[in-house]
Amino acid sequence: MSFACAKRMDVLGTETAFEVLAKAKALEKQGKEIVHLEIGEPDFDTPGNIKDAAVKAMHSGYTHYTPAAGIPELREAIADYISKTRKIDVIADEVVVTPGAKPIIFFSILAYVNPGEEVMYVNPGFPIYESVINFIDAKAVPIPLLEERDFRLDPSFIREHLTRKTKMIILNSPENPTGGVLTKDDLKAIVDLIANRDDILVLADEIYSRIIYEGKHESIASLPGMKEKTIILDGFSKTYAMTGWRLGYGVMRKDFAPKITQLMINCNSCTSAFTQVAGIEALRGPQHEAEKMVEEFKKRREVIVSGLNAIEGLSCKKPHGAFYVFPNIKKTGMKGRELQDLLLNKAGVATLSGTSFGKLGEGYLRLSFANSVPNIKKALTCISETLENQ
Ligand SMILES: Cc1ncc(COP(=O)(O)O)c(C=O)c1O
Repeated sequence: MSFACAKRMDVLGTETAFEVLAKAKALEKQGKEIVHLEIGEPDFDTPGNIKDAAVKAMHSGYTHYTPAAGIPELREAIADYISKTRKIDVIADEVVVTPGAKPIIFFSILAYVNPGEEVMYVNPGFPIYESVINFIDAKAVPIPLLEERDFRLDPSFIREHLTRKTKMIILNSPENPTGGVLTKDDLKAIVDLIANRDDILVLADEIYSRIIYEGKHESIASLPGMKEKTIILDGFSKTYAMTGWRLGYGVMRKDFAPKITQLMINCNSCTSAFTQVAGIEALRGPQHEAEKMVEEFKKRREVIVSGLNAIEGLSCKKPHGAFYVFPNIKKTGMKGRELQDLLLNKAGVATLSGTSFGKLGEGYLRLSFANSVPNIKKALTCISETLENQ
């Protein structure tokens, strides 16, 4: 007996990082040594105070359903945090807590974009944007991020591609996979373009807002008139090394929150209770562990960028945020996918082809430097030797 999948599954994309991870694990099972530079998660442990808060919460009864939008104290802690960091007034009713930040992408597009409407999104970019846009039968309009512009989008592209059907613009800064960071002037230029369009929403993916190496994070929601037009996506996965806890959130207008909450009720009921209590400790407790991680990432950035630039055929710009490098591989004469496979099978280094982040990622590779300096050095040696012997 064979059952055909629903048609809509034909256009749903994926995150190839998980596929490469599975392949790398299979090679390890055969006894091969692999350096993992494919997956986007900090290699540090979650800070102890956050883990203690979760254990305590579990023993004091936080083992049941919570309100679908999140525990009020966590929504309040998030509202305070966003008010302080983005310099806007946010209240708890404008926050929806989700299992990881990813559902905010799915829910925002599902709730606010109709089939046939247009969504602009950065490319190369987090693959889930394009996947969900296609899934709901909207039109995906990629905004190219070019190396020449330090992987910051060109606002004139947005101007030229805005139509009456444009419904949403998805921004991501600091950006995965390029490490590009938007400046206040970039954001102002975008705001000017949509100032008279009250029908366009911005989804601002700010999951890497705390992992920034030069200057400071700027949010489009902080600019005049933009709080009402922006859904901020942020969370705990990257800042506090909590990828496995599944804790994130969206900050949005008060009238949007019940809609996103309704999607939560349909999908998840609520986010894990003790995880949410740990989130309060993460935001209200000491921040030095999170800051230490960024200092360490900064050191690793130097090692990986200079190491890649020393390899014949590769050139690598310094990322300004997040923990990825996006070297140009065009001089190797290989396609991204070909080099990804070669490095995994021959060099024992798991990386991702730039095409995992959209068509415009061809000619690049993404490497995560959320790994120790000795492992990064080992990976660089293996990559260099493999390319020399090609
Ligand atoms: C740009 C971007 N947005 C959102 C997410 C999702 O984060 P979470 O693990 O909290 O769902 C990620 C995770 O890799 C990401 O890179």
